Amino acid sequence: MKLDFISIFPEYFESLKLSLIGKAQEKSLIKIGIHDLREYATNVHKQVDDTPYGGGAGMVMMPEVWGQAIDPLITQDSELIILTPAGKRFSQRMAEELSNSEHLIFACGRYEGIDDRVRQYYQAAGYKVREVSIGDYVLNGGEVAALVITEAVTRLIPGVLGNPVSIEEESHATEGFIEYPTFTKPASWRGLDVPEVLLSGNHAEIAKWRAEAGKARGNHNL
Ligand code: 6GU
Repeated sequence: MKLDFISIFPEYFESLKLSLIGKAQEKSLIKIGIHDLREYATNVHKQVDDTPYGGGAGMVMMPEVWGQAIDPLITQDSELIILTPAGKRFSQRMAEELSNSEHLIFACGRYEGIDDRVRQYYQAAGYKVREVSIGDYVLNGGEVAALVITEAVTRLIPGVLGNPVSIEEESHATEGFIEYPTFTKPASWRGLDVPEVLLSGNHAEIAKWRAEAGKARGNHNL
């Protein structure tokens, strides 16, 4: 999978060198491109935003700058992901869909967003375009949201995770099975004991306990 990030703060994406995503690049499972939007600014001031038509607070990112940045990257295999708090809520289901894509382009807006004609133009030209939000709160820009989505999506690509059994267990979680609480050594810590059944070696009983404890946890967010 190829992942391209377009932003006026390309430094946000330095963290993609770390950990499993860094390893996945070394293994050529994914390829990452980082693009400084300001390099595509067309006027002498390297301006990327302007005041909104119709008035109101804040600035809107100019369409031509985005067009210049996106045109050289986009192909029929691409999905253009426009990060905005007004987008469709990101979910594990959406992560699964995106993990099957050949190419993701993340357009990270700042200010009051990107001129809507950018979305209109690429949609009308027949490209796959989605507006995505990561939750009901407002961030200063789409960069952190793009990183969240990237982490959730790339760990679903075969070979990226160290331990593929964890994905298998999570796929049960995706069907409404909520993950159980976990424990490691020591068996007793500050007066708190690990549930007896987990020390028993009885796999059927352990599975039963985990199913119950998972439900009792009740974080039905998947
Ligand atoms: Cl994708 N962008 C911004 N600016 N705020 C957000 C968001 C995105 N998702 C949730 N809040």
